[in-house]
Amino acid sequence: MPVNLRGRSYLKLLDYTPAEIRYLLELSKDFKRLKRAGTPHRYLEGKNIVLLFEKTSTRTRCSFEVAGRDLGLGVTYLDPGSSQMGKKESIADTARVLGRMYDGIEYRGFSQKTVEDLAKFSGVPVWNGLTDEFHPTQMLADMLTIEEKFGTLKNIHFTYMGDARNNMGNSLMVVCAKLGLHFTACAPKELFPAEELVAQCKEIAAETGATIRLTEDVNEGTKDADVLYTDIWVSMGEPDEVWETRIKLLLPYQINAAAMANAKPTAIFMHCLPSYHDTNTTIGAQIAQKYGITEMEVTDEVFESKQSVVFDEAENRMHTIKAVIYATLC
Ligand code: CP
Ligand code: NVA
Repeated sequence: MPVNLRGRSYLKLLDYTPAEIRYLLELSKDFKRLKRAGTPHRYLEGKNIVLLFEKTSTRTRCSFEVAGRDLGLGVTYLDPGSSQMGKKESIADTARVLGRMYDGIEYRGFSQKTVEDLAKFSGVPVWNGLTDEFHPTQMLADMLTIEEKFGTLKNIHFTYMGDARNNMGNSLMVVCAKLGLHFTACAPKELFPAEELVAQCKEIAAETGATIRLTEDVNEGTKDADVLYTDIWVSMGEPDEVWETRIKLLLPYQINAAAMANAKPTAIFMHCLPSYHDTNTTIGAQIAQKYGITEMEVTDEVFESKQSVVFDEAENRMHTIKAVIYATLC
């Protein structure tokens, strides 16, 4: 059946079929080629989008802005303090106002319900730029990067190390299930993904040939992996107080030279970024001073190694977000 995503929102990958996700990946490759060749592609001239950010961002915001401009769109950015949303105006009212003015809405914030409500009430496509639960635009960039590096997504053994029940852990498990990868969450039990989501992903995996495994054992989890992936240990919106317990829980799951050596020799290292791999950030320096660790989820050695593809992955955010905007607005 031909894929047509016109008018659809992009809220979480559970809503998308494997064929629809594949379609977005192929479209991303087309847009990447056009961009690289310097071929103009202002296919959506005359339309406008708005970007609502209740949390900070570098990659997601810049990707939406550049992708939007490349497509000829007008782009409005609203930062956490500069709209009435939530404080003086409900989500439903905000959505109905923005839907009258804009052709599409991006939202980054806390609850998944907010982005779902924006879609419900605005009448235009809404794109999830990250909630506490899911980060679906990041998934396309990650899958595109893996496909570029290995030429395929088939038989890829993908291991996620760290907080496996945050937006990244959840989303990676879903996308691997949908696209047939062998997914391992390697984490302490306390940070395993919710049982209900695991069960849902296992059901999807049974259809696609994917496998889903959860393990606390670092040796087992990293053995012969093609991809080792991690994320920061404390996510946006979590209180500072959790740092101490999180460091204790997750230090054994740091991606370091030993973890990489246990993976396949051809393995790549991935991270959605931003990353605490040294003390060149305010928080990195504070943590070093308070807890005596200078590298967190990944060592600087691995981050800077030839196996690290993190900046290709970051670039792919823009090409893949462009595909999502185009496919849903064209
Ligand atoms: N990976 C990612 O979403 O980065 P930003 O927080 O900079 O948008
Ligand atoms: N889990 C991280 C992802 C950042 C892209 C966070 O929510 O802060």
